Amino acid sequence: MSDTKAKFEAGLAGVVAGQTAVGEVTQTSLRYRGYEIADLAANSTFEETAHLLIHCELPNASQLKDFRHRVQAAMNLPKQVTDVVDAMPKSTPPMDVLRTVVSILGHYDPDGQNNAKSANLGKSERLLGQIACATGYWCRRMGNLPEVKPDPNATHGFNLLAMMTGKKPSELAGRVMDGTLVLYAEHEFNASTFTARTIASTLADMHSAVTGAIGALKGPLHGGANEAAMHQFLSIGKVDNVDNWFNELEAHNKANPTNKRLIMGFGHRVYKNGDHRAAILRDWSLQLSKETGQKHWIDMADRLQKIMLDKKNIHPNTDYPAAHAYYQMGIPIPLYTPIFVCSRITGWCAHIIEQYENNRIIRPGSDYIGVPARDVQPISKR
Ligand code: SDX
Repeated sequence: MSDTKAKFEAGLAGVVAGQTAVGEVTQTSLRYRGYEIADLAANSTFEETAHLLIHCELPNASQLKDFRHRVQAAMNLPKQVTDVVDAMPKSTPPMDVLRTVVSILGHYDPDGQNNAKSANLGKSERLLGQIACATGYWCRRMGNLPEVKPDPNATHGFNLLAMMTGKKPSELAGRVMDGTLVLYAEHEFNASTFTARTIASTLADMHSAVTGAIGALKGPLHGGANEAAMHQFLSIGKVDNVDNWFNELEAHNKANPTNKRLIMGFGHRVYKNGDHRAAILRDWSLQLSKETGQKHWIDMADRLQKIMLDKKNIHPNTDYPAAHAYYQMGIPIPLYTPIFVCSRITGWCAHIIEQYENNRIIRPGSDYIGVPARDVQPISKR
């Protein structure tokens, strides 16, 4: 096995850092274990997709029933966890709440320190239920509102939306929420998944790997972009302001080349001709606007998208339409990235299990660019 050093690439751009059978991201397709994302989004619920990622196959009716039962059995948090959450300042960022909750859940999970595949499959299902529960719990707690329990007959997406807003979602909103979880579930070696794999490669436990992944996803360059994109829409205000807003940003960036402002929800390390998920999600958000009367967000987004394409040839990523879809559903903006966690926990767990199955510790090299070799001088001479 050769250990020669590959050439340095900033951000590991273009570097193949491993092999996976979980997901495949190319310029022309996004597949989860061989299934196209558009096919899954149109023909499977998130729970079916979650089963595919965790257990490698789409479930039949009986397998789906048992899987839903096991995930829903975990949709209540141990009191030891809610006691800690209740003591947190309400200003705590929800992503920090989830990071802490997952870390504590590791203490109370009977298989917390057990890295056997069967144990990790069970932990994956429990975390899927618990993280959704924690997201709803914190959303209600932020507003001093009573916790909402899941409906055993509803989909995971419908329940997540109801647990956050405290209201029974419309059939369309519930279906769109569940569909966004399908779209967000897996994306190969993105920063948070690669973080999870790196932690798993040291043979640390699943809760440690997921805690690290949540930390990585929080950043505005990664999962945090869906919240930043909605703040961007709110600051633009209306479609007539888009052109001036863009021109002012361009003028700022020209005058401050070392302190450029990004347009959140645009660009992608892999997709240079558009993010397959973004177009699907934008259409769902447009359908939603027929119920909510909030089509102005999509008009604004479309205008900015056209300018970015015409002037910079940069396409939107999935966080861009997720912003206005979630806003129309009445979800508080700080919960947008936690929703990403509620979905991506399935991809993360699939990758963590895969890493354990064929592991070599992840430890890349580096090019030293620091001070040349030198000797320590006695302190009297420093
Ligand atoms: C996700 O990796 C994944 O798969 C992630 C994800 C997943 O499902 O896990 O798809 C989810 O994280 C989507 C990305 C969400 N992040 C954002 O929307 C934040 C804004 N986007 C940028 O930060 C950026 O596009 C990244 C981080 C997404 C990609 O970074 P790269 O590949 O390092 O690209 P880059 O920063 O080198 O940009 C190349 C050029 C630069 O121009 P120059 O400085 O060379 O002249 O394009 C410009 C950038 O300035 N550019 C942008 C831009 N994105 C890239 N300019 C303005 N606004 C932007 N959003």
